[in-house]
Amino acid sequence: MTSPKKTILCVGLVCVDAILVVETYPTEDTGQRCADSKWQRGGNASNTATVLSLMGEDAEFMGTITDGAEKRFLMEDFKAHCVGTKHLVVCEGSGCPTATVILNKQNGSRTILNSRNGLREMTYNDFISVNLDLYKWIHFETRPNCPEVAKMLKRVLDHNAGTEDKIVTSVEFENPRRPHHDVLFNMADYVFVSKEFAQHYGYTSMVDAVEGLAQTCRPRKAVICAWGECGAAGKEPTSGTVTSPALKLDHVVDTLGAGDTFIAGTLHALTKGLSLQSSITVGCQVSGFKCGMRGLSGFEHFKSNLNSYLY
Ligand code: FRU
Repeated sequence: MTSPKKTILCVGLVCVDAILVVETYPTEDTGQRCADSKWQRGGNASNTATVLSLMGEDAEFMGTITDGAEKRFLMEDFKAHCVGTKHLVVCEGSGCPTATVILNKQNGSRTILNSRNGLREMTYNDFISVNLDLYKWIHFETRPNCPEVAKMLKRVLDHNAGTEDKIVTSVEFENPRRPHHDVLFNMADYVFVSKEFAQHYGYTSMVDAVEGLAQTCRPRKAVICAWGECGAAGKEPTSGTVTSPALKLDHVVDTLGAGDTFIAGTLHALTKGLSLQSSITVGCQVSGFKCGMRGLSGFEHFKSNLNSYLY
């Protein structure tokens, strides 16, 4: 179990998601009225930090952010969800990454059209201002700056070498096309891989993926892979593979951020000292619950159900 008072830091992307909810998926070169539309704070690390905070963790997000008009919207939303932002890197004169998301009411699928709008990625120099003594866990999302993230992780590992109170580390590999992502494979305690990432490496099931990627990535504690409606699998270096089924839903409403939510649920359970098996089960429950509702509205109701898994 990690120290309860310390913070979990999530490093990666924050963006504005412009969500268009549609009754049916659009046909190219036609017009149609949306059922709903909404701006939402997005980005994998930003979403993971939000869910961690909703689950009762002291959570902070770190990444680059525009100084333009969108900044106010994003900052107010971080505040509303009690996500710390003291290390945000404000980039003068830069645009804001946005994603136009088509959310299909029929099946909850989300189609994401990303645009970076010139915002730079974080560098190691941005990270040196972070006082590592404040954190119990640092989670990194792989972006197009993997060599810089490797330097950040090295700093955390050097810090850990000189203290008993070690920071747990994790890295998420979602997009399989990040340049030089392999430099991060064996640096963290936990590696989270997406279904897309695993499929890119030729795996056709979550069990094969964690067993194979445990050899390729060699993280210190475990490789974890969520595989949509199949659930999730995890593999520690010296024990057998564990799996969890996904939560069964009558109707899938919104899968946007399901993977980020799975990571938050799993990570929260691991910080509480739960086994890998129980932790991925919590991750599947939390992300399944999220898929049954729009955004994260109503998450509060779920927390009481979760207690039976966590304690
Ligand atoms: C969901 C998400 C969205 C964002 C996109 C970025 O996982 O983080 O919030 O638009 O992915 O790739």
